[in-house]
Amino acid sequence: MMRGLFITLEGGEGCGKTTQIELLNQYFKNKKINFINTREPGGIDISEQIREVILNKDNTAMDSVTEAMLYAASRRQHMIERVIPALESGVTVLCDRFVDASLVYQGYSRGIGIDQVMKINEAAIEGYMPDLTIYLDIEPTLGLERIHSNENREINRLDLEGIGFHEKVREGYMLIAKKYPERIKTVDASGCIEDVHKKIVEVIEDSLKNYENKVQE
Ligand code: TMP
Repeated sequence: MMRGLFITLEGGEGCGKTTQIELLNQYFKNKKINFINTREPGGIDISEQIREVILNKDNTAMDSVTEAMLYAASRRQHMIERVIPALESGVTVLCDRFVDASLVYQGYSRGIGIDQVMKINEAAIEGYMPDLTIYLDIEPTLGLERIHSNENREINRLDLEGIGFHEKVREGYMLIAKKYPERIKTVDASGCIEDVHKKIVEVIEDSLKNYENKVQE
């Protein structure tokens, strides 16, 4: 059986990922693609419990390496319980964030080092990497403005970081997008919801074409 396609979405705070994922859900349903939609940190019960510890605003004493390890622990359980079984049974997985978020947030912005964080994650990802990663690029000031004007969104421990941290997040994503141009596609997320959705669909359709060609080879 052909492995399912593994697609991840990434971006800084307020890039509109949640809205875009909802629209992509509809797109996959309309296309009758067999898929699951999940998220990190979380997606399954144990990983959601770890998410609460990581993002709890009261946990201000959390050490950066501890933080990276908790993300990795949450990731491994999610991979084992949900993502790998789906991919191996031919189901497409649409995942809100993956290891790139750790490389950028913990490795680059917190300063642990991208290679160090990749090492911490080796046991978590079991050799699986996304076939396609869409990076929604937004100016941090605009992203944070969006978050603070959204009354329904809960503010978490990482949202409380200063603008310098979020600027480093953007720098980090740009850096890894440059390093893995085949896999990571950057979409400008500053436009209106519909325009951003259209651009994401274009990227996915391109990628699906390549995937289908590969299957036929
Ligand atoms: P979310 O806002 O996309 O739900 O993600 C929660 C926060 O966790 C967000 O600030 C990004 C951060 N994060 C990391 O720092 N490292 C990671 O590995 C992941 C998956 C998320």
